[in-house]
Amino acid sequence: MQTLEQYADATYPKECSFSESDWMALSNLWYPIALEADIEAEPKKVTLLDVDLVLARLDGAILVARDLCIHRGAPMSMGWVRDGCLVCPYHGYRYDISGACTFVPSDPRGAINSKLRLLVFRSTVKYGLVWVCLRGEPSNMLPVWEPEATDPKFFRFTMGPEIWDCSAGRAIENFIDNAHFSFVHRNTFGLEENAEQGATYDFEVDDQKMIMAFEYQATNPEDSPIANASELHRYMHRTLFFPFATRTAIHYPGGRDHIIHINIAPVSARKSQLIVVFTRNFDHDVPVEDLLAWEQKILGEDRVMIENQKPEEIPLDAAAEISVMADKSSVAFRRWLTKLGLGRAFTA
Ligand code: FES
Ligand code: FE
Repeated sequence: MQTLEQYADATYPKECSFSESDWMALSNLWYPIALEADIEAEPKKVTLLDVDLVLARLDGAILVARDLCIHRGAPMSMGWVRDGCLVCPYHGYRYDISGACTFVPSDPRGAINSKLRLLVFRSTVKYGLVWVCLRGEPSNMLPVWEPEATDPKFFRFTMGPEIWDCSAGRAIENFIDNAHFSFVHRNTFGLEENAEQGATYDFEVDDQKMIMAFEYQATNPEDSPIANASELHRYMHRTLFFPFATRTAIHYPGGRDHIIHINIAPVSARKSQLIVVFTRNFDHDVPVEDLLAWEQKILGEDRVMIENQKPEEIPLDAAAEISVMADKSSVAFRRWLTKLGLGRAFTA
């Protein structure tokens, strides 16, 4: 985890798919941008809110910085790591974990200009994910994954990072929506006759999160990895950690818990990066590939729908789309975004 005294603040990108005021409101939050395990010897590039970032592991610590060497504008993600520093691929300048330039190969004995720095952003690692905030003190909380993060009975598998052609708003609204199960998922776990289930739910919301509790009687077809049941009753508890991270616990009878963590980062206004972490306290003997194949099939059904919604961004004008009782989670989410400061420009 980085503990710099002073983190850099990103500025509104020259080419940006968000309005300036929306970008300013969104850039002041934590986002999940990578799996920590994916940050190995080679630096990686990730784009968040139209800002290109470089991620690198320097002596075990993770650096998250703007993907730019200000000597002559080279992308640091094309560089490499040497002696605990990130090396620029153009002229070999080296930068340490604080972003300071420590070595200029073409002038090894000269004083180093103190302005030669990488812009290092606030980052932290939680539950094996790298979280970053581009500007200021983040105003949202990081998710809580308990008990599954610490209980050894749970094992974990992941999907992504994957880039989907959709806004983060449309994507996360899908994952707090229960009324789609019976239709979008009719070829996996949904049952049309149970459309009313899940549409009424217990519901709490505060300025950091939204909690939903509901039940759904799901079908359990042949290709599901859960054996010996034609139907499965799901007791479900979901927390949305504003704005784009959900923890959905599916409790099956017999103490079997399957918990899905969806972590979305807006790459741009109409592109989102998803990292999905699954934790499960049963099926220890089922090959992870089989479990993952089933989850990918379900998420593929969501993806097709989300990538085809219009407008691509969610409208924050309450009159622009019609809401019913089942949509109270989506309505509350849109209110939260409005309170955050997102304006009409967020409407496509
Ligand atoms: Fe990076 Fe010259 S552009 S060292
Ligand atoms: Fe779905």
